[in-house]
Parts: sequence; structure tokens; C-alpha cells
Amino acid sequence: MLRKYGVKNIIATVTLLGILLIVIFYTEPESAFPDDYFNTTSLLETYALTEKNATTPEPETQPPKCEPNMNAENVSNFGSLSNQIQDFLYYRHCRSFPIILDLPHKCGRPDKPKDIFLLLVIKSPPNNFEHREVLRKTWAKERSHNGKKIQTIFISGTDGYGYDKERLNKLLALEHKQHGDILQWNFKESLFNLTLKQILFLEWMNRRCPHACFLLNGDDDVFAHTDNMVEYLQSLEDNNGTKHLFTGQVIENAGPIRWPQSKYFVPLQVYDGNSYPAYCGGAGYLMSGYTASVIYEKSKSVEILPIDDVYMGMCLDAAKLKPTTHMGVSTLGWYIPSRTVDKYHPCFLKEVLVIHKFSPASLYILWHEVHNPKIKCGTQLLK
Ligand SMILES: *[C@@H]1O[C@H](CO)[C@@H](O)[C@H](O)[C@H]1NC(C)=O
Ligand SMILES: *[C@@H]1O[C@H](CO)[C@@H](O)[C@H](O)[C@H]1NC(C)=O
Ligand SMILES: *[C@@H]1O[C@H](CO)[C@@H](O)[C@H](O)[C@H]1NC(C)=O
Ligand SMILES: *[C@@H]1O[C@H](CO)[C@@H](O)[C@H](O)[C@H]1NC(C)=O
Ligand SMILES: *[C@@H]1O[C@H](CO)[C@@H](O)[C@H](O)[C@H]1NC(C)=O
Repeated sequence: MLRKYGVKNIIATVTLLGILLIVIFYTEPESAFPDDYFNTTSLLETYALTEKNATTPEPETQPPKCEPNMNAENVSNFGSLSNQIQDFLYYRHCRSFPIILDLPHKCGRPDKPKDIFLLLVIKSPPNNFEHREVLRKTWAKERSHNGKKIQTIFISGTDGYGYDKERLNKLLALEHKQHGDILQWNFKESLFNLTLKQILFLEWMNRRCPHACFLLNGDDDVFAHTDNMVEYLQSLEDNNGTKHLFTGQVIENAGPIRWPQSKYFVPLQVYDGNSYPAYCGGAGYLMSGYTASVIYEKSKSVEILPIDDVYMGMCLDAAKLKPTTHMGVSTLGWYIPSRTVDKYHPCFLKEVLVIHKFSPASLYILWHEVHNPKIKCGTQLLK
């Protein structure tokens, strides 16, 4: 009897694991594009027409190529580190990369700045075409809400090698031309280069968009209730972005993950402290223009840590500023205020600011449900 039950259990577990694996593989496709997605002949033709204007960068902004730092090998046991970490250490000091796609007038001209209330800054690798397309139709749509202007910028590096890299660069160039919402730099997209992306953006913002009042820094797979955000920011006493604000889901008392199998493994050779300062989970947080400029200034002297959200916390800490928690932000995707509330329920989503993680199709449906006037929500779920 017992043995039989045990076998059944094992079978059930194995089946469940199988399903989980299928789900994992299904939700993380290697490439969003099948091989025949583009007719590359016609793409090349289109691209040839736009190439000159879209990709010729301004000569003054091109920094020299950053050489690897061979002294990185001096750290103890360098040879035992993974390629990813060795690579990070070689290039850790590199902070400027050529810009491939720029948006010099996104925030107006220096003599005539645009009145941008909320700038949505969305980290999006080149391949995430579908995420960007859906975001442009939903929460990241450029518009005014309550009389306040919302603008969107996707930030990207380069990905792939050879022909693939070229194709993805062309894709971004086409989107840039059509939507005017892509910033791209010539560095390789990787988990450990996300901090670099963040710093490159802050440098750009400091130069090109210092007047934006607030920004939402987020991933392209989150649901961000940008209408709520505008209303929340408007309700603040200091609502023109000139005071400190950094809010999201605060993570406190965390430290580096020393387990080598983890995606976020940070060895002693990269960070020898035991703990991180408080920071906001990277899937989505809001900050004021003032705080963005303070972080940028501090970033010049804070050594790069490959975990981008922690790095922002380190810069805040260096400026003696603190992040705050907003109850409507759930970057872990599991934080639901009550067990009886469904993450997909529009009444729950009506109250949130940011929650992840959703497929492009779910985002599309949810955005419409949240705006469906027929859905009446009783009590306020979050306050
Ligand atoms: C691709 O586009 C080109 C130019 O528009 C056209 O001549 C060619 O027939 C197309 N090829 C395929 C396989 O559709
Ligand atoms: C490039 O930009 C100039 C002015 O900015 C415009 O007149 C010209 O038509 C553009 N060329 C192409 C190929 O888009
Ligand atoms: C690293 O080692 C090289 C030679 O092995 C030496 O020239 C260099 O000064 C060392 N760098 C540091 C920072 O210790
Ligand atoms: C970051 O980007 C640079 C420039 O493309 C590249 O040399 C480096 O290997 C990348 N670092 C990681 C950790 O991927
Ligand atoms: C922003 O608001 C403060 C008061 O909270 C005011 O002193 C300051 O002049 C305002 N700045 C701008 C640029 O409007």
C-alpha cells in the first residue's frame, strides 16, 4: 500500500516537474523571431533609405574604444571565476560607449524644453520587439493624463553576433524612425551590463532631459499603471520633481548572493561587503528628476556593481538619501495584499503602480480591463 502510494507520488511529482519545465521553456523563448520573420531583402531596402538619418551618430559624442583592464587578473583566484565575471572585471571601468540611436530633441531643445511630467524609461533588449509594441499601445503610450505629459524611451544595447546583431540593430533603427522612442548604445546586452545601461541613461538624461519632473525606471514585462502614477505624483506636496523621491518596493537587509549557481552570483572579488544598502526592486521604481541627477553625480565615484537596482541603492546611500516603499509596487510579482485578491483582477490592478511579470498579450488585455468603465470596484483594495 505504502509503496504503491510512494510510486504514485513520484509519478505525480515527475509529471508536475515536467509541466513546470514546459512552462519555463514556453515562457522564455530563445528568440522572439522565427527565422523567416522578416523578408530581409525588403528590410535591407527600407533600411538603406533610413540608415543615414537614423544611425549616423553625432561625431562629438563618440568616446574612444574602452580597452580591457588587464590588471583585473590580479584579483585572487581570477582563473576560477566564470567567463561572465571575468568579462565583467575586465570592463568594469568602462562607462562611455558610442551612442547608435540618439533622441537629441526628445525633451525639446535647450532654449525650448518640453514640459515632461513623467518620463518612462524602459529597459528593453533589442529582441523584445513584441513587448515594446504592446507597451506603446498600453501603459507606455505617449500622451497627457490629467494635463500632464507622459513620454517614453526604451533603452537598449546591442545583442547577438554578426548577421543577427546587424538584423537586430536594423530592427531598432526602424522602430526609432517610426516611433522616436529608442536610445541605443554600442555595448553588449547582458545581465551584468544592466548597471552600465542605467549609467549611460542617467548621463544622457543629465545632458538632454534635465527638466523632466519624474521618471519611472522599469522593465518591459511589467504592468505599470501610469495613470495612477501621474495622479499619485500630482498629489505630492512637492510635485515638480525638485525634491528627493525614490519609491518602489524597498528591499532591506539584503546582501550579495554567494551561491555560484545563482544568476545573480556576486563573488568576493566583485563585492567584498556582506550587505547592500536599502534599494528598490529593479522591475519598476519612481524617482524625481532631482534624485536622478544626484544619483548620476554619485555614480561617477561609486564603483560599478553588476546588479543594477542594488547599484542605484548604493548611489542613493552615497548621497545619504533613502528609498521609500510604495504599497502599490510589487516587483517580485508575488506580493498580493490579501489572499483573496487575484493578481489578474482589474480591481486589484486599478490600485497598483507596478507589478510584474506579464506576457505582452496579458499586458494588452489587462490595460483594457483596467480602463473598462463597466467594471465597478467596491472598496479600495490598497491604501
Ligand atoms: C522580399 O521582398 C522583395 C522586395 O520587396 C521581393 O522582391 C521579394 O520577392 C520578397 N521575397 C519573399 C520571399 O517574399
Ligand atoms: C534626413 O533628414 C533630413 C532633415 O533632417 C530630411 O530632409 C531627409 O529627407 C532625411 N532623409 C531620409 C532618407 O530620411
Ligand atoms: C598587476 O600585475 C601586473 C603584473 O603582473 C603589475 O604590473 C601590476 O602593477 C599589477 N596591478 C596591480 C593593481 O596590482
Ligand atoms: C559589457 O559590454 C561591453 C561592451 O560591449 C563588453 O565588452 C563586455 O563584455 C560586456 N560585459 C558583460 C559582463 O557582458
Ligand atoms: C518647484 O516647487 C518649489 C516649491 O515646492 C518651488 O520653490 C520651485 O520654484 C519650483 N521649481 C520649478 C522649476 O518650478
